[in-house]
Amino acid sequence: MTSPASARPPVIEVRDLRTHLVTRWGTVKAVDGVSFAVREGETLGLVGESGSGKSMTCLSIVRLTPRSVSGVLEGTVRLEGDDLLTKSEREMQRIRGRKVAMILQDPMSSLNPVFSIGMQMREPVAAYHGLRGGALRRRAAELLASVRIPSPEARLRAFPHQLSGGMRQRVVGAMAIAAPPRLLIADEPTTSLDLTIQAQYLGLLKELQERHHFAMIFVTHNLGIVAKMCERVAVMYAGRVVEMGPVREIFTSPRHPYTQALLESVPRLGAKLDRLTAIEGQPPDLARLPAGCAFAARCPRVMDRCAEAPPELEVAPGHTSRCWLQAPA
Ligand SMILES: Nc1ncnc2c1ncn2[C@@H]1O[C@H](COP(=O)(O)OP(=O)(O)OP(=O)(O)O)[C@@H](O)[C@H]1O
Ligand SMILES: [Mg+2]
Repeated sequence: MTSPASARPPVIEVRDLRTHLVTRWGTVKAVDGVSFAVREGETLGLVGESGSGKSMTCLSIVRLTPRSVSGVLEGTVRLEGDDLLTKSEREMQRIRGRKVAMILQDPMSSLNPVFSIGMQMREPVAAYHGLRGGALRRRAAELLASVRIPSPEARLRAFPHQLSGGMRQRVVGAMAIAAPPRLLIADEPTTSLDLTIQAQYLGLLKELQERHHFAMIFVTHNLGIVAKMCERVAVMYAGRVVEMGPVREIFTSPRHPYTQALLESVPRLGAKLDRLTAIEGQPPDLARLPAGCAFAARCPRVMDRCAEAPPELEVAPGHTSRCWLQAPA
């Protein structure tokens, strides 16, 4: 018997996360006050247009934000109660790959170019399964085979640069599930995979999650995948979560005009594709955000009040929206 997700403790709790990058163009507020929690066995989807801060949110949680730029990383990120933003780099290295597994958008950022695939898989496989020697190699090859890497035994001796982009992504996918983590962060984990492999891999992730009850943060542009993989979804716009709630409710009664536009921009299955409504206008410059709602300039329902920052309002149990439309008059 598994208890309902709402009764389980949160594995990860992010409070008021701010990641501001100081660049030549000004201070980019890539993540600007993001809060959410994900419980054991639960998957939270992160959606939003390109540049809305999804990857930066994931990278901030594991403290892998770009080193080339200075800036602030503030707020709290509690992993089973432990604040990750106060850990030393050494402690973070232990946490990454053990408690938190990551499939990052750029697979090269999770792979070390100077070690073979086999070397890189050794640590998590040995630590979790207590294997060594031939048994360890066989288990690593099995993991590669599970993500459809051809000739897995031979690939263990390969270096990351000897694999195609799609293969690298699958290797990272195999490594992420080598030792079941407490939290899995998957940032567009299947974008470079063929559709059949994509479906198999997503199925595999779900199966592992059911067995090991890890929490998952799942970033994708594909709302069909959100429907399949996630219990809840957070919609990001300009570095903020503008709407969050149960997937079914967000899909059937979205409240925030941005979420509504995002859902309308997806062609219905079987609908004629003669008109695809892209969201009008450009996403804002994150170095020059307005004081009020960042979506106001593109919003079909904009009002005078939108010049002030909208509050986060609970529109239904567990469903929040950051929009003046939902505020009492
Ligand atoms: N190395 C960097 N230096 C400066 N700004 C950056 C850097 N990386 C990302 N940004 C900025 O941070 C903001 C958020 O980027 P992020 O990668 O989180 O977007 P995203 O939502 O993941 O987009 P996508 O869907 O395209 O992956 C963007 O405005 C981007 O330009
Ligand atoms: Mg991204």
